[in-house]
Amino acid sequence: MKVLITPRGFANYGLDQVKYMESKGLSVHYNSTGKAYTKEEFHKLASDADAIIVGVDIIDRELIDKCPNLKVICKFGVGTDNIDVDYAKEKGIFVGRTVGSNSTAVAEHVLALMFADAKNLYSTIKEVKEHKWNKITGQELSGKTLGIIGFGMIGKRVANFANGISMKVYAYDAFEIPDEVAKEYNVEKKSFEEIISESDYISLHVPLLDSTKNMISTEEFKKMKKSVCLINTARGGVVDEKALYEALVNKEIRSAYFDVYSSEPPAADDKLIRLDNFFLTPHTAARTAESERRTCQMSTEIIVKHLLG
Ligand SMILES: NC(=O)c1ccc[n+]([C@@H]2O[C@H](COP(=O)([O-])OP(=O)(O)OC[C@H]3O[C@@H](n4cnc5c(N)ncnc54)[C@H](O)[C@@H]3O)[C@@H](O)[C@H]2O)c1
Repeated sequence: MKVLITPRGFANYGLDQVKYMESKGLSVHYNSTGKAYTKEEFHKLASDADAIIVGVDIIDRELIDKCPNLKVICKFGVGTDNIDVDYAKEKGIFVGRTVGSNSTAVAEHVLALMFADAKNLYSTIKEVKEHKWNKITGQELSGKTLGIIGFGMIGKRVANFANGISMKVYAYDAFEIPDEVAKEYNVEKKSFEEIISESDYISLHVPLLDSTKNMISTEEFKKMKKSVCLINTARGGVVDEKALYEALVNKEIRSAYFDVYSSEPPAADDKLIRLDNFFLTPHTAARTAESERRTCQMSTEIIVKHLLG
C-alpha cells in the first residue's frame, strides 16, 4: 500500500518514520524536492495512494474522486480547513490530525510576537542596521491583559506561558470552559465581547470554520482598546483583512502581528503588509525542529494504526 507524504519536513525530520513505515510493508513516497508540490504534481502522486500525510495541499472533492484507494488522510498539524472532511467521511476515508504536536511551537511564537510588539524589536533592530540609534520606549507585558479566543490545545499553552510572565489572562471558547480548567490554567472566563473590549493583547486560536470566518471585523475593531495589539496565528480568514486595514490606518487599534494570511504568500500589491503597524511571519509558528519531529512521529502512528490496524 502506498503512503504519500507531502510536507517537506519529513525529509529532514521524519526519515526514521519513513523507514518504520517501510518495515511494515508500506511503500512510502515523501517530498524530497525541497519545494511544495504543484496541484498537478500532488494530484498525480495522490491518485494511487492508500494514505496521505498532508500539509497545506488542498484535499477537496476533485482530489478525493481521483483517489479510489484512499483510506486514510492525516493532517500534518491540526487545522483541517484544507481538507473536505465531510466528503472524506462520506467516502469512508478516515481523517486524523496530530493533536497537540505543535502547540508549544505556536504558543512560543505568540510570545515572540507579543515581545516583538512590546519591545519594538522589528523597527529598532532594522534601524540599527541602517546606522540609526533611536531609543524607542516600549512597554512591559507583565501586568497587561491577554485575551485568548479559542481555548484548545494552543490557547491553553499560551495561557501557561503568559502566566509565567505575569500577564492577566482572559479566555473564551465556543464551549463552556469548566471552572476547574479555568483554575488549572489560571485564566478568567470572559465572553467574546468582554475579551474584545477589555484586552491589551488579543490572541486568536480558533479553527477556520463557517462560524469563525471574519469573526474579527469592523464592529469588533470599533469595540477594541485603541492600544490593543491583535495576534493571529490561527488562520487567515478568521480576521476580515479589509476591516483590519481600515482599523490600523485609522489607528482604531495600535498594531497587529500575524503568522497566517488569507493569501499565502500575500499578493504583490497587498496594502496591509506595507503598513508600519502590521507584521506578518510566513506561517512559521509551528516550524521548530522539535515540533516537526513530533508531528512526523504522530502522523506516522496515525497512518500505521488506521491503515494496518
Ligand atoms: N500558525 C500555525 O502554524 C498553526 C499551527 C497549528 C495550528 N494553527 C491553527 O490554530 C488552530 C487551533 O489549534 P489547536 O491545536 O489549539 O486546536 P484545538 O482544536 O485544540 O482548539 C481550537 C479551539 O477553538 C474552539 N472554537 C471553535 N470555534 C470557536 C468559536 N467560534 N469561538 C471560540 N472558540 C471556538 C474550540 O472549541 C477549541 O477549543 C487550528 O485550528 C489551526 O487553524 C496554526
